[in-house]
Amino acid sequence: MLYLAETETGANPGVVLAENGRAVRIIDQTQLPQRLVHLELSNAPSMYEAIYKLRVRGAPAIGIFAAYAMAVLANVSEEPDFAAFARSLERDAQYLESSRPTAVNLSVQLKRMSHVLRGCKTIPEAREALTAEAFAIHREDIAMNLAISEFGLTLIKSGDAVMTHCNAGPLATSRYGTGLGALLLGAERGMDLRAYTCETRPLLQGARLTAWELHNAGIPVTLICDNMASIVMSRGLVNAVFVGADRIACNGDTANKIGTSGLAILAKHYRVPFYVFAPSTTLDPHCATGADIVIEERPGEEIAEMHYTKRMAPEGINFYNPAFDVTPHELITAIITEKGKMNLDGVTQ
Ligand code: MRU
Repeated sequence: MLYLAETETGANPGVVLAENGRAVRIIDQTQLPQRLVHLELSNAPSMYEAIYKLRVRGAPAIGIFAAYAMAVLANVSEEPDFAAFARSLERDAQYLESSRPTAVNLSVQLKRMSHVLRGCKTIPEAREALTAEAFAIHREDIAMNLAISEFGLTLIKSGDAVMTHCNAGPLATSRYGTGLGALLLGAERGMDLRAYTCETRPLLQGARLTAWELHNAGIPVTLICDNMASIVMSRGLVNAVFVGADRIACNGDTANKIGTSGLAILAKHYRVPFYVFAPSTTLDPHCATGADIVIEERPGEEIAEMHYTKRMAPEGINFYNPAFDVTPHELITAIITEKGKMNLDGVTQ
């Protein structure tokens, strides 16, 4: 089997197939930046838990993870005949798909793997075909990220500062990233680029992951609380806002990490260009507008307790913890895919 070399994935990829093909190896993103911990997952409940708990997270990364998960579950299956093997894998695919609802990549890649499975007739054939498909999905994501990053670089120049939200870097994708891709590629080419990174309450993907990735790449990163974005924009400290996307509706409305739509409103007010970066597979043809996108709601403990040394809210109160919001298309300067600028018909200009 042709494993992806480090020259393709970059050092320390967030998601890979273990050499024996019997586990998905991930960086446990919940442990960063304190500890770089790798986990090997070989059964469906631990894979579901990894997605739900955001050990692996970011729309493209959970799609790649799910593809490798299906290959692993095929490789470790002890089902005696092909019909039982296929039924069990289809059940696992549905189970994994139910772990998080908003990012379209999870269901897209699971459906792609199921389609491959349905084209097979024997267990050995299915194992080989599913593993090959998972590698193909990973490779395609790397190529799309590179193209997206190249387009991103046409939107900024050396000396610019970019505001980021959540984490749309290599951990959330495969390599370079989408929203962070231009910064990382530009830095590799010697450009002088800086970032203002929103910490991204309540799970702090900006503080814990984006700051870690940009700092490791030698990019000067200034961390701000989410409620500081307005003053940063009003003082002209950033030239653009770059974010990723979890699902794009046909009219260009875009779901991304909670807080993204607020940044878009501010950006419009302060006339800062607001760009969304995502592979074209993030466009969901079944969502006419953002109103059709299911927004994940998560437990209130993430607001009250997580990342604090002690609880920071009284017991007995209510919480509302939507994990994503939808940015209306009219607030988005452009959506950038691997093909260039997307127009509202989902085709590139
Ligand atoms: O809840 P998360 O951390 O999975 O949310 C991730 C985001 O919102 C990212 O911005 C999005 O997936 C794009 S990643 C390239």
